[in-house]
Amino acid sequence: MKQVKLHDKVFRISISEQEIDSAVQAVADKINANHKEDDSIPLFLSVLNGSFMFAANLIKRIAFPCEISFVKLASYHGECSSGKVTELIGISNALVGRDIVVIEDIVDTGNTYESLMATLMRHNPHSVKIATMLLKPEVYQKTLPIDYVAMQIPNDFIVGYGLDYNGLGRNLPNIYTIV
Ligand code: IMP
Ligand code: MG
Repeated sequence: MKQVKLHDKVFRISISEQEIDSAVQAVADKINANHKEDDSIPLFLSVLNGSFMFAANLIKRIAFPCEISFVKLASYHGECSSGKVTELIGISNALVGRDIVVIEDIVDTGNTYESLMATLMRHNPHSVKIATMLLKPEVYQKTLPIDYVAMQIPNDFIVGYGLDYNGLGRNLPNIYTIV
């Protein structure tokens, strides 16, 4: 499918499943290379809904013992970040002293990650890093380091590979950009 229509908008394919797969593999390779044998068992924390597909594909390629859990946050309405981050399902794990790797679909303004980081810090983890499928560097203005980035993209609204436009498009295996 070169083009898809979701609600009132048309999207054109911009990143293929094959390109996504190699970018995910490259991130997994970096995470695996940074992991030392006597490091503690990290907790991967996938931010729902958007990151479910990236999380599933990334975690399969992690080559050391690890845990995965989920939090559910929302900030987007239609095509724009609302700026307000709502926690829909909270943290259910003990995080004290843990090494956490947040898994995100995309870092856009960084509001979601900044807000999640503040929440995580209240639980006294040992460390927090982030692995994101996508980063919009033109939009991201925060100071928190974005440790692992599979792909950088321009400031256009995209769907697919977990990302949605008002609920649709999450199932698409490729990434599509708004026309
Ligand atoms: P941020 O808080 O502005 O960094 O945005 C984070 C969340 O907004 C992401 O986790 C996505 O769920 C959503 N988001 C940001 N950009 C896009 C986009 O281009 N398409 C669909 N969702 C997006
Ligand atoms: Mg998200």
